[in-house]
Amino acid sequence: MHSRIVRTGISLPKKLLDKLDELRVSLGIESRSRVIQEAISSYISEKIWLLGEEEALVAGSVTIFFTHGKRGVERKLVELQHRFLDLIRSSTHVHLTEDKCMEVILVVGSVKRLRDLVSYIESLKAIEYVRTSFQSVTL
Ligand code: NI
Repeated sequence: MHSRIVRTGISLPKKLLDKLDELRVSLGIESRSRVIQEAISSYISEKIWLLGEEEALVAGSVTIFFTHGKRGVERKLVELQHRFLDLIRSSTHVHLTEDKCMEVILVVGSVKRLRDLVSYIESLKAIEYVRTSFQSVTL
């Protein structure tokens, strides 16, 4: 399927563009536009669930990386899972090194509740990396 191509100008921090170019070269892709198109598509597919109706059903995972014991992070993650009991179906904790941990939480719930969960997680300062991957169940 072909869709109309629109030319546009965007401003980017140099460091961000350098990193994108480094990745583009390592992937053997010549076109910078193609890499930017893929990056935008990936952003949209990561966030598209947010456009769903508040009560629409969404399922997916939350992956969290953190430093073991830092600012009571393990306790905060347990509190989180009790607070969002209605959403959380499963969670797995992996001890990566002596001080690094990863936790993956599987969730099912409404767009409204998942928005609450994501903003709660983003407010936890002890977390170093968090990625969500959600899909609408009714697609
Ligand atoms: Ni651990």
